[in-house]
Amino acid sequence: MSVIQVQGLRSLKGEIKIQGSKNAVLPMMAAAVLHKGTTVIHNVPRIQDVFCMLGILQRIGCDCRLDGTTLIVNASTITQAEIPEEYIKSMRSSIILSGPLLGRTGLAVTSFPGGCSIGQRPIDLHLYAFQRLGAVVEEKAEKLIVSARTLTGADIEFRFPSVGATENALLASVFAKGTTVIRGAAKEPEITTLCEFLNNMGAKIEGAGTSKLTVMGVKSLHDSEFIVAGDRIVAGTYLAAVMAAEGNIFIKGIRPEELSAATTLAERMGAELKTYRDGLEVYMKGRPDCMDVVTSPYPGFPTDLQSQIMAVMASGHGTGRLMETIFEGRFATAKELRKLGADIMIDGKRAIVHGLYPLSGNRVTAPDLRGGAALVVAGLACEGVTEIHECYHIERGYEDICRDLSSLGAVIRGME
Ligand code: EPZ
Repeated sequence: MSVIQVQGLRSLKGEIKIQGSKNAVLPMMAAAVLHKGTTVIHNVPRIQDVFCMLGILQRIGCDCRLDGTTLIVNASTITQAEIPEEYIKSMRSSIILSGPLLGRTGLAVTSFPGGCSIGQRPIDLHLYAFQRLGAVVEEKAEKLIVSARTLTGADIEFRFPSVGATENALLASVFAKGTTVIRGAAKEPEITTLCEFLNNMGAKIEGAGTSKLTVMGVKSLHDSEFIVAGDRIVAGTYLAAVMAAEGNIFIKGIRPEELSAATTLAERMGAELKTYRDGLEVYMKGRPDCMDVVTSPYPGFPTDLQSQIMAVMASGHGTGRLMETIFEGRFATAKELRKLGADIMIDGKRAIVHGLYPLSGNRVTAPDLRGGAALVVAGLACEGVTEIHECYHIERGYEDICRDLSSLGAVIRGME
């Protein structure tokens, strides 16, 4: 699907079941490489990034099958320790395979993932963690060769709670001799899930959910089965959708506590919320009040919802300021929102948004995954039709945003 058309000013009503978490399942798929046997994961989202990761696992020798939303990976044989370059370029997060390849084979060959539309995306913290465990990092012919005769448990102290670097440090230390202590670790729910997943495979990790993770090295892992929780960012996207469109929806299949920064903000902006064990009911009547928001590492407001909340505020009431402190390039959506009539001024890391309702439908282009989803949210608050181009970005993280929102009453369709 390359174009999405949204007919705005329709309120939303009904229940939506949220797909499995992209940012939880990608490191779990990488973790399966550590085990010379079978790993089964349920509730896997059927999204482009998962299909891409599947392709890499098959290229390095794993036997994989995605049956509906159940993934079976048999990693008994690994035939290469190099992550194919074309995958690194198309999906930066494939760098997450370097930790398990290093942990299992003593070698990981990759290339610098390079920047993307939201920022430089360096990997210095990943490489620092590998070196602390005793690996040598060399650059040859634009390839990164990370090698280690043995990996030895060490103290790793991150200057910034990088999600990916924390995941790679965990994955590389599972078989390290002795104990590894990771301080300044990221505390995102996806890290907690990865610790639970690895322990379920036979690893020995303590401290999940805190900024200090302790990994006692083990010799091997065993077959395991695991169910992925719902995607908190997809859920937050649909929370933004009902705030922009108004209405009353039930968002099912997520842990509301993983979204508390977003739900607290939604209530301050005028949404009425009721939380349940596995879901969230949202009621929105009238325009949301613009607020000041700062993105920060978990449990702060997630950078992955910054574009979506900008779209809500653009069609809201009053003035709000958005500070993006995680990715330096994550305001690209503002330029597209202005084409819909939004009044947004960018000043360095800060966006000042004056709400205006309704916005006016127009042709726009998705700048990245979450920016694309944000333009769909904005389209719900536009008079007339909004046409979003380059929607392949959205398919990287959303199974079918048109299916989901039209099941809630939106007039939206995808076209080739
Ligand atoms: C993960 O990316 C997520 N991706 C991102 O979601 C998310 O935005 C991000 O975490 C922050 O929550 C996946 O999980 C696949 P980081 P990651 O390392 O691991 C700097 C989405 O939309 N940094 O926490 O790449 C970096 O420049 C995606 O689903 C270094 O300086 O994020 C950035 O400023 C987008 N050196 C900050 O840390 C490093 O070695 C956050 O990056 C690594 C990171």
